[in-house]
Amino acid sequence: MNLTFTEEQEMMRKMVRDFAQTEIAPFVEKMEKGEFPRPILRKMGELGLMGIPVPEKYGGAEMDFTSYIIAINELSRVSATVGVILSVHTSVGTNPILYFGTEEQKQKYVPKLASGEFLGAFCLTEPSAGSDAASLKSRAVRDGDHYIINGSKVFITNGGEADIYIVFAKTNPDLGSKGVSAFIVEKNTPGLIIGKDEKKMGLHGSRTVQLTFEDMRVPAENLLGQEGEGFKIAMANLDVGRIGIAAQALGIAEAALSAATEYAKSRHQFGKPIAAQQGIGFKLADMATSVEAAKLLVYRAADLRSRGVKCGLEASMAKLFATRTAVEVTTEAIQVFGGYGYTEDYPVERYFRDAKVTEIYEGTSEIQRIVISKHL
Ligand code: CAA
Repeated sequence: MNLTFTEEQEMMRKMVRDFAQTEIAPFVEKMEKGEFPRPILRKMGELGLMGIPVPEKYGGAEMDFTSYIIAINELSRVSATVGVILSVHTSVGTNPILYFGTEEQKQKYVPKLASGEFLGAFCLTEPSAGSDAASLKSRAVRDGDHYIINGSKVFITNGGEADIYIVFAKTNPDLGSKGVSAFIVEKNTPGLIIGKDEKKMGLHGSRTVQLTFEDMRVPAENLLGQEGEGFKIAMANLDVGRIGIAAQALGIAEAALSAATEYAKSRHQFGKPIAAQQGIGFKLADMATSVEAAKLLVYRAADLRSRGVKCGLEASMAKLFATRTAVEVTTEAIQVFGGYGYTEDYPVERYFRDAKVTEIYEGTSEIQRIVISKHL
């Protein structure tokens, strides 16, 4: 067993760490005010970061999956907003076309997604179908060489900014999960209506919108896979997507641990640094141990995926543990900072606000436990 990164993976880590420090850190304040990081994504496209695991044949960097996870991990240490935009764009915005698309669909869409010219989004969740994704109500009816889609979606990450939406709708409502089909929908499709922007607790630079489909006409050639294969397409890509969100959570937790450790070394109370007070030292020890354990789970799942081994179980374990770690470590980081941690003068309150949603999106912690227990 080899627990070290390859030279190529280390180069990716260094490149993304430098990029995040020089390009993203100065943009964080704007994102906190709600600005979508378009200029950052453009630069990420130039560096090949918008299509890291995509084959060169389709315009990607053709690096291994672990390198992609390293990128999300590093970006999220500086901005969890940029981390989630990249994760959704790649794992569930691009990969469904790459793995389930026809050659024509791949040629048409993947190079633009991999270069960053296009941004991807994934539209599964509906107002009354969240964890129970198979109960979605959006309806797609074949009409000659088109499908007419009606319905609504909520909590769509990258919505309103994306060029391509992977949309799930029922072609046969009597068949439950086997009646769900997937479609590639372009942003200017008539009947695709971008609704309300959600005002969120965190991830302020990431757009999350409601979508409505009103007699949205999608060419039949944009059906992804076969009719009825949509649920499996969603689940298979979420298996992988969950490793990305776990890496995002890991990045947030690492940032909080690092900030808390530095602060504890410089803050003096009772005649010595608070890091030397056992109450704080033990807290930091527990935080560091959890972060290390999360890291091992995240990179173990990523390594399995890189080697083409099935990893749904390990992905769910990594997401469950890393996201819990992010919530716990960011909470404790505020405690280490005391009153200062509760102010916007330090970044730990942002880490805390950004961490919570990682336990919710791409399958709540309860859903991860369902997936894990089914495997057991
Ligand atoms: N890969 C491939 N196929 C799978 C699969 C997987 N991982 N999981 C299930 N399937 C297949 C099953 O094999 C089954 O098909 P067969 O009958 O032919 O075997 C079919 O799908 C139905 O499976 P289940 O009966 O297990 O499905 P279920 O209705 O009980 O639901 C669930 C399972 C795990 C709870 C699922 O509904 C789920 O994951 N829910 C959470 C939804 C979710 O994660 N949403 C995230 C939205 S995206 C997002 O959040 C992005 C963002 O903004 C950051």
